[in-house]
Amino acid sequence: MSEESKIEFPTNFWYAAMPAEDLKSGEMKRQMLTNRPFLILRDQNGEVAALDDHCPHRGIPLSDGRFDGKEVECCYHGWKFNCEGTCTEIPSLMPDSPVKPERIRTKNFPCEERDGLIWVYISDDKNSEIKEVPKLETFSEKYKSHVISSELKCNMDHGIIGLMDPAHGPFVHQAWWWRKQTSIHEKAKKFEPIPNGFRMSSHTPSTNSAAYKLLNIYNEPITTTIEFVLPNRRLEQIHCGKYWFSSQAVVTPITDKESRLDFVAAWNILNGVPFIKNIYKIFAKKFIGQDQRIMEKQSVGLRDNPKLILIDDADTQAKWYFQLKKAYQKAQENGDEMEHPIKEPITLRWRS
Ligand code: FES
Ligand SMILES: [Fe+2]
Repeated sequence: MSEESKIEFPTNFWYAAMPAEDLKSGEMKRQMLTNRPFLILRDQNGEVAALDDHCPHRGIPLSDGRFDGKEVECCYHGWKFNCEGTCTEIPSLMPDSPVKPERIRTKNFPCEERDGLIWVYISDDKNSEIKEVPKLETFSEKYKSHVISSELKCNMDHGIIGLMDPAHGPFVHQAWWWRKQTSIHEKAKKFEPIPNGFRMSSHTPSTNSAAYKLLNIYNEPITTTIEFVLPNRRLEQIHCGKYWFSSQAVVTPITDKESRLDFVAAWNILNGVPFIKNIYKIFAKKFIGQDQRIMEKQSVGLRDNPKLILIDDADTQAKWYFQLKKAYQKAQENGDEMEHPIKEPITLRWRS
């Protein structure tokens, strides 16, 4: 089997199924997540639910049936299921039939809407204690927010290590308004372990980043913190006096070969600027589009399953990601506490 098709998807986590605005009341959609088909529904009251997208009768996708905002009717023999996955009707049954539809069900998964995304808790372990849905931190009552979703032609692992990769910036994201290749300089960043991940400790953003340039207008010290937490979240906070920008990027595994980047941001910076949200959208789209295109190119190369190299220190975060995933998996299998691969704070140095 190729490296590409061997991806492990950590379970007992919330995964973002889709942007919340893509599902209106009374609609249902099939969504692949971790290589499995889910049926995501929004009932007539606006509540979301997630079911295994197979009819338990003959396995046909329930998403091929009809949803009336309350129940899904399978398109093959008309069995109906409510949003909890319980069968409510089997049209072919005689009134005196001993078959009890309510004993038949398709699996349902915890499902919640938060920060513009619909999240599904994926677990095969009935006793798993369900954690809280991941949350984007905000720091004032009033703020603007926005969600951008982009399909990535590469698997979750490459999406994630691309997200935390400091060395591609000057090459992939170069533009007059962002930074030039010639601005590459030495950097040293402190990192510390946090539960299920690591944090780039609070620091002043590098002088060649756009955030730094923009926020300089406030004439206040600027600090940034970046965190990665399993299974797939990168969180960044920028603070400048009472102004802030907070983002959450999640790389959702769709199949072994595809993933999706959901980038959720909230901010109160520059909110006096007219059309700030539109300006933000243009820049964010452009920036994410650059990552999207580079990963598309990468996917062409990865089809041949080449041997790959991770180097210190620019790829150390990528190494940590794989180590964290392994340690988590091991702890899940053995039922013990996870042994954190990062033992103590450490400084990484690279040029970018
Ligand atoms: S396959 Fe769904 S009702 Fe028969
Ligand atoms: Fe990037």
